[in-house]
Amino acid sequence: MKQQPIGIFDSGYGGLTVLKEITAALPQFDYIYLGDNARSPYGNRSFETVYEYTWQCVQWLFTQGCPLVILACNTASAKALRSIQQNDLQKIDPSKRVLGVIRPTTEIIGRYTKTGNVGILATNGTVISNSYPIEIQKFYPAVHVFQEACPMWVPLVENNEYNSPGADYFIQKNIDNLMGRSGNIDTILLACTHYPLLMEKIKKAIPAGVTVLSQGEIVADSLKLYLEKHAEIAEKCSKNGQIGFFTTDSVEDFDNHAAIFYGKPVKSKHLGL
Ligand code: DGL
Repeated sequence: MKQQPIGIFDSGYGGLTVLKEITAALPQFDYIYLGDNARSPYGNRSFETVYEYTWQCVQWLFTQGCPLVILACNTASAKALRSIQQNDLQKIDPSKRVLGVIRPTTEIIGRYTKTGNVGILATNGTVISNSYPIEIQKFYPAVHVFQEACPMWVPLVENNEYNSPGADYFIQKNIDNLMGRSGNIDTILLACTHYPLLMEKIKKAIPAGVTVLSQGEIVADSLKLYLEKHAEIAEKCSKNGQIGFFTTDSVEDFDNHAAIFYGKPVKSKHLGL
């Protein structure tokens, strides 16, 4: 059996914050990262469009041989994962696996809250899908979920404005909106893989005693457990510790930007879809 890399997909750079933690937890595997930068952000796009773009990218990762693809993007996980898992894989190759970032996070979030009030900060698309309240309800029926869409945050990050006073303004505004919905929120999840770049500013904007969680480590731990439990999938994944980076937009832009998210310099290749 030919072993192949694990595919990691995001609309742009955000998934690199997840890849960083995955490669720290599972350095032995090979990975192919695909950022659909030419069509990012996905956050305000319709269900149909996010599904179409995501499925196209996942299929490309399959053509590269990936036996397993992680949607390291909440918007794609919220709007496309179910259709891919329930319909598409059956049709094209039931042996392939596609996993998202919502389930691993909702499975454990109840462990962090003492008040039983959790805040979700995400893109419009993720909030409108209601995926977080629905999934959290399954694992923790007593937990109350309050959501706030932050449509300016991804553009601030993608346009290198995440350290600017403009970022302070929008972060404070969205956090105040969220906290205004329940004075009792003690745990906030950054339910967008771009948001860890705003962590310092978010921590300054929240009231004392509130915990902020980002998804990278949570998703990495969950993938580790998944591969331990599913030896038949782990065995299809190649293990040379190599990573390939692909972007649907300019490689120069990608390479200049990616290190901020990934923590290391990156050399990407262009993919025309
Ligand atoms: N990083 C993606 C997420 O986790 C969102 C970026 C976008 O809007 O494209 O939702």
